[in-house]
Amino acid sequence: MSLELTPSIKYWLNFFHPVTMWALLVLSIYAAYLGLQVQRTRNAQGEEKKELIKGRYNVRHYQIGSILLAFLVTGAIGGMAVTYINNGKLFVGPHLLAGLGMVSLIAFSAALSPYMQKGANWARATHILLNFTLLGLFAWQAVSGVQIVQKILTKA
Ligand code: HEM
Ligand code: HEM
Repeated sequence: MSLELTPSIKYWLNFFHPVTMWALLVLSIYAAYLGLQVQRTRNAQGEEKKELIKGRYNVRHYQIGSILLAFLVTGAIGGMAVTYINNGKLFVGPHLLAGLGMVSLIAFSAALSPYMQKGANWARATHILLNFTLLGLFAWQAVSGVQIVQKILTKA
């Protein structure tokens, strides 16, 4: 079954997911920077600590993290939707599997928030491990994603 969309809409739909995901890749690097500043703030002493606290990195990191969570999950579902609309099926390959893996990772890492806020070190360590894995997969998705875009462009 394929949805009744005009060919040009179907074609342009292809670029929605890649553009969104590249924006989110940049946002996730910013989130990582803010997260590392949270850690620096917690470990700092005296004047330096006072200065860092003014940056409100914990609040900003949580906000950017929440935006990332929402758009990463919907962006991945969007990629699957467009693939299905255009091909009538999904391609069970590395991009799909790594993408679903990333969705699971960010769900777990966000779910650790209340525990980190209570000061649990196990939650912080797990959060950092999950998210740096997430960033690694993200870089890999950017490469395999651009390869998919190139395939679409040469098909057209
Ligand atoms: C690229 C993704 C992310 C990276 C690299 C990252 C990294 C970090 C790091 C390094 C810390 C500091 C831990 C410490 O104090 O030692 C942290 C804390 C935290 N992160 Fe993330 N994070 C990411 C995404 C998220 C997301 C998606 C959420 C939730 C929606 C989130 C919520 C939090 C919270 C609540 C804290 C604790 C802040 C506090 O101490 O008050 N992070 N993160
Ligand atoms: C970073 C740059 C990325 C690019 C350039 C990219 C590109 C693409 C393209 C061109 C498609 C085919 C569908 C379409 O034409 O829209 C696709 C599918 C998909 N993408 Fe991405 N993507 C990227 C990142 C991600 C990320 C971060 C995730 C998950 C968190 C993801 C998950 C998926 C999934 C699940 C599919 C469906 C795959 C299939 O069933 O074959 N993508 N992507």
